[in-house]
Amino acid sequence: MDDQLAEALHLLRIGELVAFPTETVYGLGADASNPQAVAKIFAAKGRPADHPLIVHLADAAAIDDWAREVPIEARRLAAAFWPGPLTLILKRSGRAPDAVTGGQDTVGLRVPRHPLALALLAGFGGGIAAPSANRFGRISPTTAAHVREELGAAVALVLDGGPCAVGIESTIVDFSRGAPIVLRPGAITASDIDAVIGATTGQGGAVADPAAPPRVSGSLAAHYAPSAPLCLVAADGIKAAAAAALAEGRRVAVLARTLQPFAATDLLWHDAPLAATGYAHELYATLRLLDASGADLILVEALPQEAAWQAVADRLQRAACGSGENDET
Ligand code: TXA
Ligand code: MG
Repeated sequence: MDDQLAEALHLLRIGELVAFPTETVYGLGADASNPQAVAKIFAAKGRPADHPLIVHLADAAAIDDWAREVPIEARRLAAAFWPGPLTLILKRSGRAPDAVTGGQDTVGLRVPRHPLALALLAGFGGGIAAPSANRFGRISPTTAAHVREELGAAVALVLDGGPCAVGIESTIVDFSRGAPIVLRPGAITASDIDAVIGATTGQGGAVADPAAPPRVSGSLAAHYAPSAPLCLVAADGIKAAAAAALAEGRRVAVLARTLQPFAATDLLWHDAPLAATGYAHELYATLRLLDASGADLILVEALPQEAAWQAVADRLQRAACGSGENDET
């Protein structure tokens, strides 16, 4: 076995934290059965202790160890999409400690697709509780270097599995409140889900009212945010918005998609991929880059109003809401 993997397994077994790659974003992992180890996750992230964590499993066979009364539709989704970027919220079994569930009667379960995550989970045997490996309220990390920037010495080991393929967090489907409902959109869309279990998620997938329980930290309005203010602007309004900000002496970054670049002093131009999957793959790394450039305003070209863009649009809207006032969330 690879030395790093052996070290990671040892650390998990003695109750330490290990960051690891998944196909969505990097996770900050701890033994899900060990409340003291799980407490270290909350301390490292600065996350409120009542926010539940996803338990990562090596394969779908472990679902009944962690959940009870699992609906057939949930099993169908697991069979269709695991390993993959899908989290199921189910009624918890006695095995899931309060430290992981935030004291709720439900548990989030996911089998990730990254080979290093799967090797770690298979070697460990039990569940690994892992949120995204960023400080609370900040952009999720999609490379090992991002994790080190976010968490530094707070994490004993970062397994490096290269850049994450998907780039945004998993789709979350809640089965604990009757009809399944999408709590967080992701690469697996509501219509992908409907295609497997019927149109039970509502019109193209009902998305939960963020104010309603259960608590989902990713559903806070201020989330996934860079430090610089971020505004979504229609393509034909970007030039005027940039000119106005530059005239005030601000440094402006533009994240364009279809718009042709124009040059100006103190303007940083970045072209994003045209398709939603490519856009999602690069999104968080790009936001980090634009933030680090010293820009004090990030103008993002508004996205198409299509189902394929729903997850990316969700993350950008939250980043926009959180701008400038997000450090304490
Ligand atoms: O793609 C992902 O899901 C990544 C990778 C590492 O797997 N994980 C991730 O974890 O995004 P986190 O903690 O950053 O976001 C998980 C979301 C949180 O908003 C949390 O509140 C919600 O899932 N969640 C977890 N367990 C839940 C539960 N029992 N009920 C409702 N929401 C839950
Ligand atoms: Mg997160």
